[in-house]
Amino acid sequence: MVDLAATPPTQLTGPILVFDSGVGGLSVVQALRERMPSLPLVYACDNAAFPYGQKTEAWLKERVLSVVGSLISEVQPSLIVLACNTASTLTLPELRNSCRLPVVGVVPAIKPAALITRSGQIGLLATCGTVNRPYTEKLINEFAADCEIIKVGSNRLVELAEIYLAGGKIADQDLLEILAPLLAEPRLDTVILGCTHFPLLQPHLARVAEQTGAPPWQWIDSGAAIARRVVQLLNDAGYSNPSCPTHFIPNCWLTAPLATDSQLPQSLQLFGFSQIKQLTGFDLKEPVS
Ligand code: DGL
Repeated sequence: MVDLAATPPTQLTGPILVFDSGVGGLSVVQALRERMPSLPLVYACDNAAFPYGQKTEAWLKERVLSVVGSLISEVQPSLIVLACNTASTLTLPELRNSCRLPVVGVVPAIKPAALITRSGQIGLLATCGTVNRPYTEKLINEFAADCEIIKVGSNRLVELAEIYLAGGKIADQDLLEILAPLLAEPRLDTVILGCTHFPLLQPHLARVAEQTGAPPWQWIDSGAAIARRVVQLLNDAGYSNPSCPTHFIPNCWLTAPLATDSQLPQSLQLFGFSQIKQLTGFDLKEPVS
Protein backbone atom coordinates (compact mmCIF):
# COMPACT_ATOMS: atom_id res chain seq x y z
CA MET A 1 0.00 0.00 0.00
CA VAL A 2 1.31 3.46 -0.89
CA ASP A 3 1.39 5.51 2.28
CA LEU A 4 0.88 9.19 1.45
CA ALA A 5 2.14 10.17 4.88
CA ALA A 6 5.43 8.29 4.41
CA THR A 7 6.66 10.31 1.41
CA PRO A 8 8.59 13.55 1.87
CA PRO A 9 6.42 16.71 1.98
CA THR A 10 5.89 18.88 -1.13
CA GLN A 11 7.06 16.25 -3.66
CA LEU A 12 4.44 13.63 -4.38
CA THR A 13 5.79 10.19 -5.29
CA GLY A 14 3.27 9.87 -8.08
CA PRO A 15 0.65 12.05 -9.78
CA ILE A 16 -3.09 12.17 -9.15
CA LEU A 17 -4.86 9.87 -11.59
CA VAL A 18 -8.25 11.16 -12.80
CA PHE A 19 -10.30 8.43 -14.47
CA ASP A 20 -13.58 8.37 -16.43
CA SER A 21 -15.17 6.54 -19.37
CA GLY A 22 -14.62 9.57 -21.61
CA VAL A 23 -14.09 13.32 -21.44
CA GLY A 24 -16.37 13.90 -18.42
CA GLY A 25 -13.56 13.73 -15.88
CA LEU A 26 -12.11 16.85 -17.49
CA SER A 27 -14.76 18.85 -15.62
CA VAL A 28 -13.21 17.47 -12.42
CA VAL A 29 -9.71 18.25 -13.74
CA GLN A 30 -10.85 21.84 -14.20
CA ALA A 31 -12.06 22.04 -10.59
CA LEU A 32 -8.80 20.47 -9.33
CA ARG A 33 -6.69 22.92 -11.33
CA GLU A 34 -8.71 25.88 -10.07
CA ARG A 35 -8.08 24.76 -6.51
CA MET A 36 -4.45 23.65 -6.85
CA PRO A 37 -2.80 24.69 -10.14
CA SER A 38 0.52 22.91 -9.47
CA LEU A 39 -1.03 19.48 -8.85
CA PRO A 40 0.53 16.80 -11.11
CA LEU A 41 -2.43 15.25 -12.91
CA VAL A 42 -2.69 12.31 -15.28
CA TYR A 43 -5.96 11.73 -17.11
CA ALA A 44 -7.28 8.39 -18.27
CA CYS A 45 -10.43 7.44 -20.10
CA ASP A 46 -11.79 4.05 -20.96
CA ASN A 47 -12.96 5.23 -24.36
CA ALA A 48 -13.05 1.64 -25.68
CA ALA A 49 -15.92 0.92 -23.27
CA PHE A 50 -17.63 4.31 -23.52
CA PRO A 51 -20.46 4.88 -22.60
CA TYR A 52 -20.52 3.37 -19.12
CA GLY A 53 -24.14 4.45 -18.58
CA GLN A 54 -25.39 1.68 -20.85
CA LYS A 55 -23.35 -1.23 -19.45
CA THR A 56 -24.67 -3.97 -17.18
CA GLU A 57 -23.63 -3.55 -13.55
CA ALA A 58 -21.68 -6.85 -13.36
CA TRP A 59 -19.71 -6.14 -16.54
CA LEU A 60 -18.95 -2.56 -15.55
CA LYS A 61 -17.71 -3.49 -12.08
CA GLU A 62 -15.20 -5.96 -13.46
CA ARG A 63 -14.13 -3.59 -16.22
CA VAL A 64 -13.44 -0.63 -13.92
CA LEU A 65 -11.44 -2.77 -11.50
CA SER A 66 -9.26 -4.23 -14.24
CA VAL A 67 -8.65 -0.99 -16.19
CA VAL A 68 -7.85 0.97 -13.03
CA GLY A 69 -5.59 -1.89 -11.84
CA SER A 70 -3.60 -1.68 -15.06
CA LEU A 71 -3.42 2.13 -14.89
CA ILE A 72 -2.02 1.90 -11.36
CA SER A 73 0.87 -0.24 -12.68
CA GLU A 74 1.56 2.18 -15.53
CA VAL A 75 1.07 5.51 -13.75
CA GLN A 76 2.02 4.69 -10.13
CA PRO A 77 -0.36 7.37 -8.80
CA SER A 78 -0.48 8.71 -5.25
CA LEU A 79 -4.26 9.05 -5.32
CA ILE A 80 -7.08 8.16 -7.70
CA VAL A 81 -10.11 10.27 -8.55
CA LEU A 82 -12.86 8.09 -10.00
CA ALA A 83 -14.36 11.01 -11.90
CA CYS A 84 -17.46 9.14 -12.97
CA ASN A 85 -20.79 9.00 -11.15
CA THR A 86 -21.88 5.92 -13.10
CA ALA A 87 -18.83 3.95 -11.95
CA SER A 88 -18.57 5.47 -8.45
CA THR A 89 -22.18 4.66 -7.50
CA LEU A 90 -21.39 1.04 -8.39
CA THR A 91 -17.75 0.22 -7.69
CA LEU A 92 -16.33 2.49 -4.98
CA PRO A 93 -16.12 -0.02 -2.08
CA GLU A 94 -14.57 -2.77 -4.27
CA LEU A 95 -12.14 -0.34 -5.88
CA ARG A 96 -11.01 0.97 -2.51
CA ASN A 97 -10.47 -2.58 -1.27
CA SER A 98 -8.69 -3.83 -4.33
CA CYS A 99 -6.29 -0.98 -5.12
CA ARG A 100 -5.39 0.06 -1.58
CA LEU A 101 -4.72 3.65 -2.59
CA PRO A 102 -6.77 6.66 -1.53
CA VAL A 103 -9.73 6.78 -3.96
CA VAL A 104 -12.01 9.81 -4.20
CA GLY A 105 -15.29 9.03 -5.95
CA VAL A 106 -17.88 11.31 -7.52
CA VAL A 107 -21.56 10.88 -6.67
CA PRO A 108 -24.53 13.16 -7.44
CA ALA A 109 -24.55 16.35 -5.31
CA ILE A 110 -27.91 15.58 -3.71
CA LYS A 111 -27.06 16.82 -0.23
CA PRO A 112 -25.85 20.31 -1.31
CA ALA A 113 -28.81 20.63 -3.69
CA ALA A 114 -31.26 19.84 -0.87
CA LEU A 115 -29.59 22.56 1.22
CA ILE A 116 -29.91 25.31 -1.40
CA THR A 117 -33.31 24.62 -2.99
CA ARG A 118 -36.05 27.03 -1.92
CA SER A 119 -38.98 25.33 -3.64
CA GLY A 120 -37.99 21.78 -2.63
CA GLN A 121 -38.21 20.59 -6.22
CA ILE A 122 -34.88 19.48 -7.69
CA GLY A 123 -33.89 18.03 -11.06
CA LEU A 124 -31.35 15.22 -11.21
CA LEU A 125 -29.73 14.96 -14.62
CA ALA A 126 -27.46 11.91 -14.87
CA THR A 127 -26.88 8.77 -16.93
CA CYS A 128 -29.66 6.16 -17.00
CA GLY A 129 -27.32 3.94 -14.95
CA THR A 130 -26.84 6.55 -12.19
CA VAL A 131 -30.49 7.60 -11.86
CA ASN A 132 -31.53 3.97 -11.34
CA ARG A 133 -28.79 2.95 -8.87
CA PRO A 134 -29.78 1.95 -5.32
CA TYR A 135 -26.83 4.13 -4.19
CA THR A 136 -28.54 7.21 -5.68
CA GLU A 137 -31.84 6.28 -4.02
CA LYS A 138 -30.02 5.96 -0.72
CA LEU A 139 -28.54 9.48 -1.11
CA ILE A 140 -32.01 10.86 -1.84
CA ASN A 141 -33.58 9.12 1.18
CA GLU A 142 -30.75 10.22 3.44
CA PHE A 143 -30.32 13.85 2.39
CA ALA A 144 -33.36 14.95 0.39
CA ALA A 145 -36.29 12.99 1.83
CA ASP A 146 -38.36 16.17 2.09
CA CYS A 147 -37.65 17.24 -1.51
CA GLU A 148 -39.20 16.14 -4.77
CA ILE A 149 -36.48 14.86 -7.09
CA ILE A 150 -37.28 14.80 -10.80
CA LYS A 151 -34.91 12.22 -12.26
CA VAL A 152 -33.84 12.53 -15.88
CA GLY A 153 -31.57 9.79 -17.23
CA SER A 154 -29.84 10.84 -20.44
CA ASN A 155 -27.15 8.89 -22.21
CA ARG A 156 -27.63 11.22 -25.18
CA LEU A 157 -26.31 14.20 -23.22
CA VAL A 158 -23.14 12.22 -22.48
CA GLU A 159 -22.66 11.63 -26.22
CA LEU A 160 -23.25 15.32 -26.93
CA ALA A 161 -20.49 16.31 -24.49
CA GLU A 162 -18.12 13.90 -26.26
CA ILE A 163 -19.07 15.37 -29.65
CA TYR A 164 -18.53 18.90 -28.34
CA LEU A 165 -15.05 18.18 -26.95
CA ALA A 166 -14.08 16.36 -30.15
CA GLY A 167 -14.76 19.60 -32.04
CA GLY A 168 -18.33 18.87 -33.22
CA LYS A 169 -21.44 21.04 -33.09
CA ILE A 170 -24.40 20.42 -30.81
CA ALA A 171 -27.95 21.57 -31.59
CA ASP A 172 -30.04 23.57 -29.10
CA GLN A 173 -33.04 21.41 -30.07
CA ASP A 174 -31.25 18.28 -28.74
CA LEU A 175 -30.57 20.00 -25.42
CA LEU A 176 -34.17 21.22 -25.19
CA GLU A 177 -35.51 17.70 -25.71
CA ILE A 178 -33.30 16.40 -22.90
CA LEU A 179 -34.36 19.22 -20.56
CA ALA A 180 -38.09 18.91 -21.42
CA PRO A 181 -39.10 16.92 -18.28
CA LEU A 182 -37.44 19.59 -16.11
CA LEU A 183 -38.89 22.51 -18.08
CA ALA A 184 -42.34 21.02 -17.46
CA GLU A 185 -41.93 21.63 -13.70
CA PRO A 186 -42.59 25.33 -12.90
CA ARG A 187 -41.54 25.01 -9.22
CA LEU A 188 -38.14 23.52 -10.00
CA ASP A 189 -35.26 25.81 -8.98
CA THR A 190 -32.16 23.58 -8.74
CA VAL A 191 -30.59 21.08 -11.15
CA ILE A 192 -27.95 18.55 -10.13
CA LEU A 193 -25.52 17.62 -12.89
CA GLY A 194 -24.98 14.02 -11.75
CA CYS A 195 -22.64 13.05 -14.57
CA THR A 196 -19.17 14.55 -14.93
CA HIS A 197 -19.75 15.08 -18.65
CA PHE A 198 -22.58 17.54 -18.05
CA PRO A 199 -20.75 20.53 -16.48
CA LEU A 200 -18.84 20.74 -19.79
CA LEU A 201 -22.16 21.74 -21.41
CA GLN A 202 -23.63 23.70 -18.50
CA PRO A 203 -23.47 27.16 -20.15
CA HIS A 204 -25.34 25.74 -23.18
CA LEU A 205 -27.91 23.99 -20.99
CA ALA A 206 -28.52 27.16 -18.97
CA ARG A 207 -28.85 29.29 -22.08
CA VAL A 208 -31.40 27.06 -23.83
CA ALA A 209 -33.42 26.63 -20.60
CA GLU A 210 -33.55 30.39 -20.03
CA GLN A 211 -34.56 31.04 -23.66
CA THR A 212 -37.81 29.14 -22.96
CA GLY A 213 -38.66 31.70 -20.28
CA ALA A 214 -37.96 29.33 -17.37
CA PRO A 215 -36.61 31.11 -14.28
CA PRO A 216 -32.81 30.73 -13.92
CA TRP A 217 -32.02 27.46 -12.13
CA GLN A 218 -29.19 26.87 -9.68
CA TRP A 219 -26.86 24.34 -11.36
CA ILE A 220 -24.88 22.17 -9.04
CA ASP A 221 -22.16 19.60 -9.71
CA SER A 222 -19.61 17.75 -7.60
CA GLY A 223 -16.38 19.22 -9.07
CA ALA A 224 -15.58 21.77 -6.36
CA ALA A 225 -16.39 19.31 -3.55
CA ILE A 226 -14.12 16.67 -5.11
CA ALA A 227 -11.30 19.18 -5.42
CA ARG A 228 -11.77 20.16 -1.75
CA ARG A 229 -11.65 16.49 -0.70
CA VAL A 230 -8.45 15.84 -2.69
CA VAL A 231 -6.77 18.91 -1.20
CA GLN A 232 -7.87 17.85 2.29
CA LEU A 233 -6.38 14.35 1.82
CA LEU A 234 -3.13 15.85 0.52
CA ASN A 235 -2.97 18.38 3.36
CA ASP A 236 -3.61 15.62 5.91
CA ALA A 237 -0.66 13.76 4.39
CA GLY A 238 1.61 16.83 4.65
CA TYR A 239 1.45 18.12 1.06
CA SER A 240 0.19 21.65 1.38
CA ASN A 241 1.59 22.71 -2.00
CA PRO A 242 2.68 19.60 -3.90
CA SER A 243 4.92 20.07 -6.92
CA CYS A 244 5.37 17.89 -9.98
CA PRO A 245 8.31 15.51 -10.00
CA THR A 246 10.89 16.98 -12.44
CA HIS A 247 10.44 14.26 -15.11
CA PHE A 248 6.63 14.48 -14.92
CA ILE A 249 4.65 14.52 -18.20
CA PRO A 250 0.89 15.22 -18.00
CA ASN A 251 -0.28 12.27 -20.12
CA CYS A 252 -3.75 11.23 -21.12
CA TRP A 253 -4.24 7.45 -21.34
CA LEU A 254 -6.82 5.92 -23.69
CA THR A 255 -8.01 2.32 -24.08
CA ALA A 256 -8.85 2.69 -27.81
CA PRO A 257 -7.25 4.78 -30.57
CA LEU A 258 -8.98 8.03 -31.55
CA ALA A 259 -10.58 8.61 -34.94
CA THR A 260 -8.04 10.30 -37.21
CA ASP A 261 -10.21 13.43 -37.56
CA SER A 262 -10.92 13.75 -33.82
CA GLN A 263 -10.03 17.12 -32.34
CA LEU A 264 -9.91 15.66 -28.86
CA PRO A 265 -6.09 16.06 -28.64
CA GLN A 266 -6.57 19.85 -28.99
CA SER A 267 -9.22 19.85 -26.25
CA LEU A 268 -6.96 17.74 -24.02
CA GLN A 269 -4.19 20.29 -24.53
CA LEU A 270 -6.52 23.02 -23.26
CA PHE A 271 -6.89 20.99 -20.06
CA GLY A 272 -3.10 20.61 -19.80
CA PHE A 273 -2.63 17.09 -21.21
CA SER A 274 0.03 17.28 -23.86
CA GLN A 275 0.67 13.63 -24.69
CA ILE A 276 -1.67 10.72 -25.47
CA LYS A 277 -0.73 7.17 -24.48
CA GLN A 278 -2.45 3.88 -25.24
CA LEU A 279 -3.26 1.42 -22.48
CA THR A 280 -3.01 -1.91 -24.26
CA GLY A 281 -5.20 -4.97 -23.74
CA PHE A 282 -8.53 -3.18 -23.20
CA ASP A 283 -9.75 -2.35 -26.70
CA LEU A 284 -13.06 -4.16 -27.30
CA LYS A 285 -13.63 -6.14 -30.49
CA GLU A 286 -17.40 -6.20 -30.04
CA PRO A 287 -19.44 -3.31 -28.62
CA VAL A 288 -20.88 -4.18 -25.20
CA SER A 289 -24.23 -2.82 -24.09
N1 DGL B 1 -18.95 10.72 -16.96
C1 DGL B 1 -19.66 9.63 -16.46
C2 DGL B 1 -20.48 9.89 -15.23
O1 DGL B 1 -20.17 10.78 -14.46
C3 DGL B 1 -20.21 8.53 -17.32
C4 DGL B 1 -20.66 8.70 -18.69
C5 DGL B 1 -20.87 7.39 -19.43
O2 DGL B 1 -19.87 6.80 -19.83
O3 DGL B 1 -22.03 6.97 -19.59
O4 DGL B 1 -21.44 9.20 -14.97
